[in-house]
Amino acid sequence: MKPFLIKLALNNVILEDEFKQAVQEFKTIDIIAELDQQEADLTVFELESESDLDRIRSYIKNTEDTEVFLLSGNSDPQVLIKAIRMGVNEFLTLPLNPKVVNDSILRFLERQKKRKRETSETSGEIISVVGSKGGVGTTTIAVNLAVTMALARKELSVALLDMNILFGEIPMLLNISPKYHWGDIIKNMDRLDDFFLSNILSEHSSGVHVLPSPRYLDNQPVPPPSAMDVLLDLMIDRYDYIIVDLGQSLNETALKILQRSELIQIVTIQSLPCLSNANRLIKSFMDFGSINKGKINIVLNRYLKTGMVTLANAQEGVGKKISWVVPNDYVTTMSAINSGKPLSQISPRSKIAECFNDYVGKLLPHEKKEEKKWKWF
Ligand SMILES: Nc1ncnc2c1ncn2[C@@H]1O[C@H](COP(=O)(O)OP(=O)(O)OP(=O)(O)O)[C@@H](O)[C@H]1O
Ligand SMILES: [Mg+2]
Repeated sequence: MKPFLIKLALNNVILEDEFKQAVQEFKTIDIIAELDQQEADLTVFELESESDLDRIRSYIKNTEDTEVFLLSGNSDPQVLIKAIRMGVNEFLTLPLNPKVVNDSILRFLERQKKRKRETSETSGEIISVVGSKGGVGTTTIAVNLAVTMALARKELSVALLDMNILFGEIPMLLNISPKYHWGDIIKNMDRLDDFFLSNILSEHSSGVHVLPSPRYLDNQPVPPPSAMDVLLDLMIDRYDYIIVDLGQSLNETALKILQRSELIQIVTIQSLPCLSNANRLIKSFMDFGSINKGKINIVLNRYLKTGMVTLANAQEGVGKKISWVVPNDYVTTMSAINSGKPLSQISPRSKIAECFNDYVGKLLPHEKKEEKKWKWF
């Protein structure tokens, strides 16, 4: 995952430490040394004498996409005006005030966000995973789909959102202990911005960023559709793919997510009641949500060739072609759940792990997506 790079071109080690300390709270940035070959998003210079201005001016000319901050003990307005004319983005007077540094970094992140928005051609895609019944494997599908996508293409940013209204199990399946959940976002909608969101999501070792659901019956409000709109706006701006485990929640908010999804995966198993539920779900989504049938996929999970209901029967029951067949593998899925690891880690050569790889290979565009998103952490 790629954070913003800040290059410190400071000759003074103490000043360097002070700057690093002032920005250590930001998870979205990385500090690199002056000699680092990577192109920085921001370079920080110290202006010791006016003669430094020429060096900085030519640096700004040669690095169009890099912002420049100037630290100086000299707050002479003439110098300040020269610096601004040269294209310096922020001028911070010494001694450094951590609050001032903090605010300037927030403004820098805000400008980057705006720039990325303007240059990004398309927004991220939402893929919702819905269960046709409880226990059919919705969470297993959502979690492993997200992880497989993130591992298949390192340049993609993938988020996983748990919309099971209560007791979502994603953190358990990924063995992570997130501090926050979407209930925290709903309670703090007025504070919701990139920075807040970046602190709320937890990163799994695969690179997937997880937003879990509340873990306790603690008067958690169901997120209203309007709040979900704001959250999704931010997320699609920041991620290439947002996988949503909708479980079986089919309230107004869930409908909002489904309407905004590019792809809806309805998970079913080889049982007639489940297939019939899947059929009714498709109809309901189309009738009440004006959702296009073309973006609905049927996932037949826990498929057994020897099952009483054949693939053809299943297709007939659902009234739609089955797009993805996931084999039955109780041992691997159970040990994945119980050890908090994705299927690809528990048993990379198993049929089920390969099935996820094959599917993701077909799902992802063949050409590498432009790295339009910046990555967090
Ligand atoms: N392909 C599979 N083969 C065998 N067992 C599976 C498969 N997928 C999931 N399971 C098993 O099904 C059970 C339920 O899985 P999971 O929690 O993913 O379902 P769910 O639909 O999200 O359940 P809930 O309704 O409780 O949220 C687990 O014990 C899991 O091991
Ligand atoms: Mg579940």
